[in-house]
Amino acid sequence: MVIMVEKLAILDAGAQYGKVIDRRVRELNVFSELLPMNSPVSSLKEYKAVIISGGPESVYDKNAPKHDPLIFGMNIPILGICYGMHLMSYAHEGVIRRKSVREDGQEVVRINNSSKLFHGLGLEEKVLLTHGDSVINPGKGFVVIANSPNRIIAAIENPAKRLYGVQFHPEVDLTVNGRKVLHNFLYNIAGFSGDYTLEDREAKAVGYIRGCVGDKEVLVLVSGGVDSSVCAALLNKALGPEKIHALHIDNGLMRLNESLKVKEALEKTGLKLRVVDASQDFYNSITTVKGNETKKLNEAVSPEEKRNIIGDAFMRVAERAVRELGLNPNNVYLAQGTLRPDLIESASTIASSKADVIKTHHNDTALVRELRKKGMVVEPLKDYHKDEVRVLGKSLGLPDELVWRQPFPGPGLGVRIICADKPYINDDFGMINQQLKDYYANDSISATLLPIQTVGVQGDGRSYSYLVGLSGEKDWDELFRMAKDIPKRIHKVNRIAYLFGEKITSPINNITITHITPDVIKQLQLADDIVNQALIKYGLLRKLSQVPIISFPLGFGIEGARSIAIRTFITNDFMTGVPAVPGSEEMPLEALDEMVGRILSEVNGISRVAYDLTSKPPGTTEWE
Ligand code: XMP
Repeated sequence: MVIMVEKLAILDAGAQYGKVIDRRVRELNVFSELLPMNSPVSSLKEYKAVIISGGPESVYDKNAPKHDPLIFGMNIPILGICYGMHLMSYAHEGVIRRKSVREDGQEVVRINNSSKLFHGLGLEEKVLLTHGDSVINPGKGFVVIANSPNRIIAAIENPAKRLYGVQFHPEVDLTVNGRKVLHNFLYNIAGFSGDYTLEDREAKAVGYIRGCVGDKEVLVLVSGGVDSSVCAALLNKALGPEKIHALHIDNGLMRLNESLKVKEALEKTGLKLRVVDASQDFYNSITTVKGNETKKLNEAVSPEEKRNIIGDAFMRVAERAVRELGLNPNNVYLAQGTLRPDLIESASTIASSKADVIKTHHNDTALVRELRKKGMVVEPLKDYHKDEVRVLGKSLGLPDELVWRQPFPGPGLGVRIICADKPYINDDFGMINQQLKDYYANDSISATLLPIQTVGVQGDGRSYSYLVGLSGEKDWDELFRMAKDIPKRIHKVNRIAYLFGEKITSPINNITITHITPDVIKQLQLADDIVNQALIKYGLLRKLSQVPIISFPLGFGIEGARSIAIRTFITNDFMTGVPAVPGSEEMPLEALDEMVGRILSEVNGISRVAYDLTSKPPGTTEWE
């Protein structure tokens, strides 16, 4: 029996745009596939409709992505977005006006809502309009169906040929009724029936796993993150626990009781998770970097050294644990929680993020490599986007706490403990401190250079430099203004944090010697747990992209004490991002006060709590 599926093709020049369109279309229960712009018409026959997105190019550019000119004669519905619209118009003898700079902005456009594309919309709609090249004559057979206030043609149609073009982005949130526009295109114009639903896909994923694996076994490495946990739960549903070897390595750098929580959550779904407690292996681990032996993890200071040691220790421990399972490479599949955006990303020319690279490295044991080489890999989530995985996880019986987890770095708390043997005080320390006084000190707020380094991203690359502490009055507007200004003026500073407590009036020259040791980890775990309880209590977990909690080695006059930083981060892609402003809906003052108060009263040996005020750039998400 041949099963026919209704499919939409997205022809994409820049993977950035395609990914979001893909996400939206699938949300509307239509199955979509991303194809290269130059796909020949013969390969598009099996699709019911096409969306042509765009990159930053102009149709007049020599380097503009090529397309098959026959595409507009296929007689299937096509929606052209920005560049896609220009292409469509140009192919029908339309005229495009060139503009060298492009700026996108939210604007109100006037629309003709008797067009099928705009059915059910108002006469005026707020959209994200692209101000770059634009159509000035739509071409043969086309009429204009939307205009911007400054007379940019915002949409065109040729209903006889079922061709539609928009100068705005219906796929983004800033186009308020963008979803309706896509819905109209998919359902009213292209006639999709909406047979691609999440329940249906769960059944398909289960069928896919059974089809792949047959009567063989599966190995899955569970990190504790959403993707691998949902993957394991899904395997369990498809194959039952006997055939699954699910392995979690506790590197001793997890959050409070985290490994236990992951085990319990997965056991509720019937899966048996083997937890390997390798804390001691990690703490005492060394490695070699460029022929030189590193310190042990519990003596190391430099972020790169810590990362190298933890990465290599993981490989060794995973290798040993997998070997101990005694699996026969001919009889076992490797399951991975790869998601659709991961695949789109790695297929695109845009370099994949550092996090991805490190993740691959982490799973690279000999057996895993062999299974990959043989093609014995199952990826049941490869059609899912992140929030769909969460919905799936929920329906498989995983608790909210696990399903809504924020991303957590592979090296765990290892990159959230700032280690130091001695104060970081260079020749410039006194001068910078003086500059801070001269430029920034006022009656209510003081700016103090602190003798520790954290990681940031400045100019072309990563930096590892001074932290500035602001203290005194909690005037958040003024504090954020200063935090923006200081690194611009003083390049040796890449991060600024507000220090709760009394205003600091004398220089800070001492540190508390700190390494990755069980007592420091415990301190951080407790503080991290307090913050996470508050995030859940105040419903902030989904509003903030990530909230690293950091231990830093300053006692501010208290012998042997350390401090804790709260680093909130709001971002779409982790390339750039901003902290939450206290008093906003992302960080209500009541919630922040509770976190600070509880950390100071419940965690032993903590001198101060800090609130990170730094955007990325110049500060990274993690302090390392
Ligand atoms: P930065 O600090 O570079 O972090 O702004 C960006 C995102 O990457 C995460 N991160 C990692 N994830 N392994 C991972 O799986 C790692 O080694 C790693 N280092 C950073 C970080 O938590 C943030 O989400």
